[in-house]
Amino acid sequence: MRSCCFIFIILMHFRCFMSNELHIEEITNETQRCILGEGPHYDVKSQNLYYVDIAAPAIFRYSLETGKIFKATIKDNNSQLGFITPIEGKTDEFVVGAGHDLTVIRWNGESEEATVLKVLVTVDSQFPTNRINDAKCDPKGRLFFGTMGDETSNLKQHPTGFLYRYQTYPNATILRDNVGISNGLAWNENLGKFYYIDSVTRNVKAYDYESSTGHISNESVLIDFAVTHPDNEFAPDGMTIDENGFLYVATWNGARILVINPVTKEIVREIQMPTAKVTSLAFGGPSLDILFVTTAAYPASYTHPPPSGAVFKITGLNVKGLPMSNFKFD
Ligand SMILES: *[C@@H]1O[C@H](CO)[C@@H](O)[C@H](O)[C@H]1NC(C)=O
Ligand SMILES: *[C@@H]1O[C@H](CO)[C@@H](O)[C@H](O)[C@H]1NC(C)=O
Ligand SMILES: *[C@@H]1O[C@H](CO)[C@@H](O)[C@H](O)[C@H]1NC(C)=O
Ligand SMILES: *[C@@H]1O[C@H](CO)[C@@H](O)[C@H](O)[C@H]1NC(C)=O
Repeated sequence: MRSCCFIFIILMHFRCFMSNELHIEEITNETQRCILGEGPHYDVKSQNLYYVDIAAPAIFRYSLETGKIFKATIKDNNSQLGFITPIEGKTDEFVVGAGHDLTVIRWNGESEEATVLKVLVTVDSQFPTNRINDAKCDPKGRLFFGTMGDETSNLKQHPTGFLYRYQTYPNATILRDNVGISNGLAWNENLGKFYYIDSVTRNVKAYDYESSTGHISNESVLIDFAVTHPDNEFAPDGMTIDENGFLYVATWNGARILVINPVTKEIVREIQMPTAKVTSLAFGGPSLDILFVTTAAYPASYTHPPPSGAVFKITGLNVKGLPMSNFKFD
């Protein structure tokens, strides 16, 4: 028994010794940094990272193979862009949130201009200052997208946003109302769970999730940052999940990523980042072991220390993510 433990300990040490050190590298250069980077989506098939700069507004493609970044704007539209998700089976069509509109755009991934092909649905017309924010597809390719009101208003007192599910033209289903700033989304299909962040509430909520229907129910608070960090120093923003079900939460003004064990509901790891406003994150790479992280230099009306707005890749985490779903029309 003793020698068995001893060998185990040696093996553990060997494993640590062999593993890479945590390495954070900027993939953007100085001129490619975002004002408000968001919505990273790693497309496993093409090995591209897609993301948006909400405020520019612009969409981006980063090719892992060449390291090149391509930027485009949407023709004849200057609405803020909340996210970009590839459409399954297409190489040049994406679902993009543009202001109040959920749209399909065509982009070849290289040109400086993309065009709107179709508006899938227009939401929140009753709240003119609302806009679509973060979104992601569930494991079955249904789009879950959320909205938020004008961030200079009191969103805690007047949460005018919603969380929607979209799969069939032309209707979006309301999943939640009274949302302040709709942000991080993640699914654990094995456990039948959906995790969700409304940044204004400063917590991560968990729901029962039925993958056959996309139905969510039984809301509970998984972790409340008002309890773990009562000093109010950061707001939770984007979120992703690894293959073990651990949640990775980007922190706006927190300069770090928090890793949460969904069973013990504890913060088990903190990854310090070189910028304060960490907005979102996505696993990618051929082995899904690279964590891509977007950040912000926002609002643009005042200066932010470099490298604010950079996009980073983190290697050496020794974990793997889950492949992200592209959008599948019903
Ligand atoms: C950043 O990369 C772009 C695209 O490759 C290039 O045009 C630009 O000169 C680079 N800027 C800096 C400051 O290196
Ligand atoms: C484009 O922008 C305008 C406002 O600038 C907006 O009314 C319109 O709905 C947007 N969407 C599309 C798909 O053109
Ligand atoms: C879809 O939306 C239209 C209005 O845009 C409405 O008339 C119709 O009842 C909706 N269908 C479903 C299935 O909700
Ligand atoms: C919601 O919670 C109740 C009570 O714990 C449980 O009976 C029910 O199965 C849950 N719903 C789903 C969809 O898991």
